[in-house]
Amino acid sequence: MTAVQADEFPPIDPSVMPLNAVIAIDGPAGSGKSTTARALADIFDLLYIDSGAMYRALTHAALMAGIDPGDEDALAGLLTPVNLVLKPAKGEVSVFWNGKDVSKAIRTPEVDANVSLVSSHPSVRSNMVERQKIMGRLGGVVMEGRDIGTVVFPLATAKIFLSASLDARVERRFRQYQHRGLDVSREKLRQDLAERDRQDSGRMTSPLAISPDAMVIDSSDLSLEQQNQICARACLVNPTLDLELDTDFETAFREIPWHYRLAYAFFSASARFYGLRQVGNEGGALPRGCIVAVNHVSNWDPPLIGSTFWRHPVHTLTKAELFKIWPLGPLFRWIDSIPIQRSGYDAGAFDEAAARLGDGANLLIFPEGTRRAIGHPGPVRNGLGILVQATMAPTLPLFIRGSYGRQPGGSPKSPLEVHFGPVIRWHGVPDLLQDHDKKEVSLRIAGLCEAAFRELQARSFAVHPETEYEKELGAKQLKKFARRQAQVFGG
Ligand code: DC
Repeated sequence: MTAVQADEFPPIDPSVMPLNAVIAIDGPAGSGKSTTARALADIFDLLYIDSGAMYRALTHAALMAGIDPGDEDALAGLLTPVNLVLKPAKGEVSVFWNGKDVSKAIRTPEVDANVSLVSSHPSVRSNMVERQKIMGRLGGVVMEGRDIGTVVFPLATAKIFLSASLDARVERRFRQYQHRGLDVSREKLRQDLAERDRQDSGRMTSPLAISPDAMVIDSSDLSLEQQNQICARACLVNPTLDLELDTDFETAFREIPWHYRLAYAFFSASARFYGLRQVGNEGGALPRGCIVAVNHVSNWDPPLIGSTFWRHPVHTLTKAELFKIWPLGPLFRWIDSIPIQRSGYDAGAFDEAAARLGDGANLLIFPEGTRRAIGHPGPVRNGLGILVQATMAPTLPLFIRGSYGRQPGGSPKSPLEVHFGPVIRWHGVPDLLQDHDKKEVSLRIAGLCEAAFRELQARSFAVHPETEYEKELGAKQLKKFARRQAQVFGG
């Protein structure tokens, strides 16, 4: 694990943190997440949410009701109707289960011993994740847990993965228990923590894992004060980089070559004609050498997306077949598109793309590799991970909705929108590469991109719920696209 020094990061200036920031902290049991999450909430004036307390509350309720922690259906039945409320209180978060304060009862060795099993059930997790997403949707929160950066908030402002050696964690837990007057031996704690590590990291549904964009911080040799300082500074890295983006309208436009201005004028006129709505595109600024990763539902996606990038020349990776069609071929060359063969691995196209990103150009890609059914983004293919590992290029996830149809305006029954995510920076990739091969790291990168698409889609649906037309069309397309996917990529 990389040893991080406090002075590698910007100094702490809480005003840099956006008001609607979401900070995600993940890590194994005993790594100091709760203490640091509370400190960060204090420094940045955010609400602290302990997601582990929610799984603990369910475990406690199950033990009280005599429900077997391995009985998924019974646990889901117990959880679904419950009013589970977390209230910030001095020191720890207070937890209310149907109005009853269970804050103390959830911190016993019995709950400790059973909570990993309870939290491993997919239906329990999906229920909890939904509750957590709702708690954080408006922002202004620090949430800690195991899957916060990977699953609950894939688009968090800042992500920390806090780790510590087993020895250090045993010692911390031992002192915590002593403080609370509980008598447990170090040996027993070591066994329990090792077993919880195994269960938390090994389960099938959203296991404890480093998100590829998380800052990884090993707290084994840090004092609490050092740990909090380093984490606070690490949280400011992304907001500081965002502030550095050039949002000045004049200068950005001056640097755009004339042929891009022409293409942009044409695309934006069409987008305006069809009433494209952009959400979250504040100033349209991109870092240099940025990958723009968009879900793909229609052939109209490239020009519609192009219309949102008036400040930047954005090159594209485009399927090679289209270069053979006149006048598309010359047109694509004119706007710097790179032809890519979609079957197999087109090393030439990836090398060219990486070289251009390295030179500071921006690159639009459709990481699903082909059009997908509306309402069902993903899966993302390995190409994005290969490019990211070759370049470490910051990546902007975009979600397009409503472009499917005979006209770029889609159907009146499906709103035409482009949702902008925050720029993803791949802080955790070097750490992941220490323990995993490149293919596995590509899968993690793909997983995060898929989660980002789904989250942006959920944000869109939260304002304009998915229509019946979209649902029906999506279901029909799912079948058709599965066949085409098999033809294009094999398998
Ligand atoms: O952080 P904690 O020790 O209070 O967490 C209790 C358990 O809950 C932990 O063993 C794993 C589980 N958990 C989880 O699976 N996902 C989360 N987001 C938080 C906790």
